[in-house]
Formats: sequence, structure tokens, C-alpha cells
Amino acid sequence: MKIAILHGPRNLTIEEQPLDTSNLAADEIWIETQISAFKIGTDRGNYEGAEDVPGAPTYPRWVGDSNLGGVRGVGSAVTRVKVGDVVVTRQPHQSEYIMKESGSLVKVPNGVDPEDAVYAHLYALSAHCYRKALFQPGENVAVVGVGVLGLGAIALGPLFGGRVAAIANSPLRLEMAAQMGAHAGFLSDDPNLKDKLDAFTNGVGIDLVILTANPWPAFQTALDIVRPNGRVSIVSLLGRGETPLNFNPLPMELFYIKGISLFAVSGPAGYLFPNSGSFPFHNQDRWAADRAAEHVLSLMADGRLEPKRLITHRFHYSDMVNAYEMAYSREKSMLGVIFNWRE
Ligand SMILES: NC(=O)c1ccc[n+]([C@@H]2O[C@H](COP(=O)([O-])OP(=O)(O)OC[C@H]3O[C@@H](n4cnc5c(N)ncnc54)[C@H](OP(=O)(O)O)[C@@H]3O)[C@@H](O)[C@H]2O)c1
Repeated sequence: MKIAILHGPRNLTIEEQPLDTSNLAADEIWIETQISAFKIGTDRGNYEGAEDVPGAPTYPRWVGDSNLGGVRGVGSAVTRVKVGDVVVTRQPHQSEYIMKESGSLVKVPNGVDPEDAVYAHLYALSAHCYRKALFQPGENVAVVGVGVLGLGAIALGPLFGGRVAAIANSPLRLEMAAQMGAHAGFLSDDPNLKDKLDAFTNGVGIDLVILTANPWPAFQTALDIVRPNGRVSIVSLLGRGETPLNFNPLPMELFYIKGISLFAVSGPAGYLFPNSGSFPFHNQDRWAADRAAEHVLSLMADGRLEPKRLITHRFHYSDMVNAYEMAYSREKSMLGVIFNWRE
């Protein structure tokens, strides 16, 4: 099998590794990758040599975690999938692999385009930005940063009943946000940003900011534009790969006086009604990652959610380095990127 391995900053290779598919254990599933999607933000940091994310592996390491493939074989005790099913997993960029049935895996419903479905887990994370911060239908939302996760938040917001403004650092990304359904879009360095958001919200203000960008200026924008007593949901890895701070990130006037709440988009979201029945393979978290991905897939099956609308590049896996180099150079025209693993 072939797998992408990052050996150090800007040193990515596709390597051959052995995989014995002839003796699957009872709980194992053999999956052959069809396509995988580029999770640009985190992977670009890894590629650039930014500090390791705590708990994540260091070099040499795998990359990617959005994989769509066909089930080629199942162990004798497997019940979740059968040979021929198409599944999305959070496995790295690789041509085939064996995983445990208890791992993160969701079946793709019939009729969902693979180029949409491969985004199920990434968009589930975008959905988590809403759930973790206790979003309520009708609230005004500003999404700061229009990368893959920001775009997911923009696409999901209207489906969840939000009014969504995109805040980007390039006009091209604002156009993409509009294509994905943003109600409005503004540049983050617009000197009249707050006035424009006041007009957008009829003076109510931004109830929830979803922050998807690492740089500190984006954080300052988030604190600045959220209304008093509002919330900021932070999915970005703040400050990762950025120059260290030379200012107070939580000045009194923007944090204490405004009385805002900051939410880290990790760990389970608070939920008042946990499932009391038994969920095979998962704990009782109603919005555990696979449950959230299933919901996202159901929106795709309904034709309401279409990540492939913003697929800007398709690469054969053997050209993967070119995609990482484009991300390295912050290519604004590149957003959705699919790697094709068929020979
Ligand atoms: N919490 C989690 O579990 C989790 C999981 C996955 C990813 N993440 C993190 O989530 C973040 C988003 O991921 P992604 O793939 O969508 O990243 P991304 O592609 O880097 O998207 C962020 C976008 O925000 C832009 N930006 C930077 N500064 C800005 C500013 N001041 N105002 C407006 N936009 C600004 C960036 O532009 P430039 O390219 O010009 O900087 C980029 O286009 C990343 O930090 C990633 O590491 C977190």
C-alpha cells in the first residue's frame, strides 16, 4: 500500500508500506481508498514545521484525516459494514488500510456524491463550532476565516437557522463564501467592519463568532465584533505557527467589560438530553463525532449541503506535494482539494 509520510518541514513523500490483508482479525475492516480530502489548516502547519499539536505525532508522521473508500474485506465479527459499502473515516492519506470496527467510521448513504461525503468529518467539526457554543436558531453568526472549516460553518449556518456573515482576508474567499450561502461577507481589515455588521444585524450585533484562523489579528477581530455578552467559538489552533504575542490577548475592554464567553471547539458539547439507550461502538454522547458526521451526510443526501461546490483542485495522489506547496504559499484560489487514489 501507499501512504503519504511527512519527514520534516516541506519533506513529504509517498511511500510503499506492507499491508497483509489475507488474515483479518474478527473485528477488522479492510478499506481501499478512493479519494481523500486536504485538511489545509492543520496539515499546512505540520508541513511548514509549526509546533506539534499536543497529542499528535511528530515527524516522520502521517498526514490527512478525511478518507473515503470501499470496504474490501471484513472480519468474522464485523456487523457495521459489509464488503462493497462506501465509508468515510478519519484515516490518513493512504491507498488502503485495515482498521478496527470500533474506530471512527460512517457509511455513505446511497446517492451522496463521494466528493461531498469525504468532507463529512470536517463539516461535522464545523457543526461542532455551533453546538459547543450552544447556538440557537435565529442567532447572528460571523465566521472569521474562510478555509475548509470556515466554509463548512458558512454552509451549515443557514441550515441551522443562523444568519451568517463571512469575514475573510481576501475578496476571492468572500466570493467563495457567497457561493456557499453566506448572507453577507466582509474583509477583516475593513475599517467600517463593525458598522457594517451592525447594519447586517439591524443593530442586534453578532451573537456568535466562529473563529477558524490561527493569527492573532483574527482573534482580535473576533473579540472586537462579538456583541457584549456574546460568544466566540474557537476551532483554530490560536497562535500556532504565528509570531509570539506582544500584547494582552484578553484586554479588559474586550473580555471582562464585554462579558463575552470563549469556547474551545474540542471535547463533547454540553447536551441536556444524553441518550440513555445503548449505542453500539459509541458512548452516549448524542453528538459524538460519527453521529455528527452522519447528520452532515444526511444533509448531503437531502441535497442541502454540497461541499464539492467549492472543490477547486483535484490531484492524483502522486502529485500531493504540489498541493502542499500551494497551501504553503497561501494560494487563495485553492480551497477544496481532493486526492484521487485510483491508479
Ligand atoms: N479544533 C480542532 O479539533 C481542529 C481540527 C482541525 C483543524 N483545526 C484548526 O482549525 C483552523 C481552520 O482550519 P482550516 O483548514 O479551515 O484552516 P485554513 O485553511 O488556514 O483557514 C483559515 C483561513 O483564515 C484566514 N485568515 C487568516 N487571518 C485572518 C484574518 N485576520 N481575518 C480573516 N481571515 C483570516 C487564512 O488566510 P491565510 O492563509 O492568509 O492565513 C485562511 O484562509 C486551523 O487553525 C486548524 O488547525 C482545529
